Amino acid sequence: MERLRGADLSQSDKCQKIMELAKRRGFFWPSYELYGGESGFIDYGPLGAILKRKIEEKWINQFVVKEGLMLIDTPVIGPSAVFEASGHTAHFTDPIASCSRCGRKWRADHLLEDQAGISAEGLALVELDAALKEHEVHCPECGGNLEAPQVFNELFKTTIGPYSEHVGYGRPETAQGIFVNFKRLHELARNRLPFGVAQVGKCMRNEISPRQGPIRLRELTIMELEFFFDPENPHCSKLKEVEEEKLRLLHEELIREGKNEPVELSVREALERNHIKAEWNAYFMVKAKRFLNELGISDGDQFFKEKLVGERAHYSAQTYDQVVRLSRWGFVEVSGHAWRTDYDLKMHMASSGVDLRAYVQFEKPRRVKKFTLKAHHKQLAQVFGKDSGRVTRLLELTPPEEVAEALKADGRYLLRGNGQTYTILPEHVTLKEEEVEEKGRRILPSVVEPSFGLDRLTYATLEYAYSEKNDRVVLKLPRDVAPIQVAVLPLVSKNGLPEKAEQIHSLLKGEGFAVEYDDAGSIGRRYARMDEAGTPIAVTIDYQTLEDGTVTVRDRNSWKQVRVSATKLPAFLREFFQGRDVFAVSS
Ligand code: GLY
Repeated sequence: MERLRGADLSQSDKCQKIMELAKRRGFFWPSYELYGGESGFIDYGPLGAILKRKIEEKWINQFVVKEGLMLIDTPVIGPSAVFEASGHTAHFTDPIASCSRCGRKWRADHLLEDQAGISAEGLALVELDAALKEHEVHCPECGGNLEAPQVFNELFKTTIGPYSEHVGYGRPETAQGIFVNFKRLHELARNRLPFGVAQVGKCMRNEISPRQGPIRLRELTIMELEFFFDPENPHCSKLKEVEEEKLRLLHEELIREGKNEPVELSVREALERNHIKAEWNAYFMVKAKRFLNELGISDGDQFFKEKLVGERAHYSAQTYDQVVRLSRWGFVEVSGHAWRTDYDLKMHMASSGVDLRAYVQFEKPRRVKKFTLKAHHKQLAQVFGKDSGRVTRLLELTPPEEVAEALKADGRYLLRGNGQTYTILPEHVTLKEEEVEEKGRRILPSVVEPSFGLDRLTYATLEYAYSEKNDRVVLKLPRDVAPIQVAVLPLVSKNGLPEKAEQIHSLLKGEGFAVEYDDAGSIGRRYARMDEAGTPIAVTIDYQTLEDGTVTVRDRNSWKQVRVSATKLPAFLREFFQGRDVFAVSS
């Protein structure tokens, strides 16, 4: 998260207003308030739970249904073997600094950013320590000196069942549930490439000191998809649909030049200039941009920021964060677009010993010169000890040509895996070259991953919907995510109007609309309540309704009112929720 940089401080009380509105109207509030609260957790209230669910449904519609992807649902808790293989037990860390006076613990990089205005992303621990000292960063609580920062692993650890040695972790991302099922999912995709699998679910990250409400949570909902493609055929078949579309990119080159303004490039230009390395990533970045547009966030309030090498997650060869301008926090990441290559499948294959490669058939058989590699187990065991099993499996998964080339050029091959580098020498392997006919080949697919934080998106949607008119809040939520679609309001609670309103309420409920009946207080107060709740339409039943069967239909955004016959009301509302400007037509 880009802490405060880019924030419009004159706007920062907007966040406060939204927090108040969220509590008042039941969107969300801090969890466990009864016991003093627990930071990093929020409860969604009746309106928030539906808003969040509707954004999730919209995402599933855009990214799963329209893209023809599969959706799966796997457990939150996983055995340690999964997260050891994925690299999370070693790499899912943040720097922590303790106060030597009061003992409070802080995210060391955030303290540097907050107190010195310096980005600490990518700094090694010693560099971070030096920067904290140089800029005289102190404990925000008591002003005490900070101890040298350490790494803190943010996995939530637990035990599975009654065995203390059977360690498990709360998943920090849903992705591993997809990778460990790759073999079965590939079969379900009829053994074809490319194909994609999505998952939406709760994830757990034991953040060090979260203090940003819904923006940094210890329990969060992630919507992500893993898209698997043949690395030798990485072309995105849908590129034509998006190649002229503009993306705002703050790419690595610009960042290294010290720039912090993105440039606008077409997808084609971004690919040609190698600012985006995987075509499928570019495709999903366009989809991500459009998705945010539909949540009310215009192109000018979002862009994609490339992560530098030292800032990227351990599995990623390239990552762009999609960032959105938020009033209090500046540009905040709401989705990440990582090119994970074959990293995860390779690691799970090496750790489990199960062949996770996909078979790709050639159009016609090919005669190819091929190296075969035989690992010398004894020699490897002598050099690598307990790691030798993993080294052998990793080596056998590496294209033999790559090993042969490096041994010829440098006399050694540097085998990378699980955050380690192993030096392979000629005496560790036998390489043979022969000409063979091949009908196909077994490959580990490459993967791009668009991954969205649903809680942040829900908050951002609220912020972009927030407006004030005549000192009142009007929450202009997009029509398709508004928790209540229609309010049914009798003008007064007498003279047969409530009975008529109840009939219309039932009619609309029966037609499938999310409707709320409200007869408490003056009509003005009820309109105001519905504007605050983001309800796009209010239907008022008045004395004329009893005479001619028409009702008043009021538009939340413009406060414009039209009269519509109650019998035509469902069709009128359906048109409205399909996006038509029915108020302009009716006036
Ligand atoms: N899977 C994306 C993330 O871990 O952030």
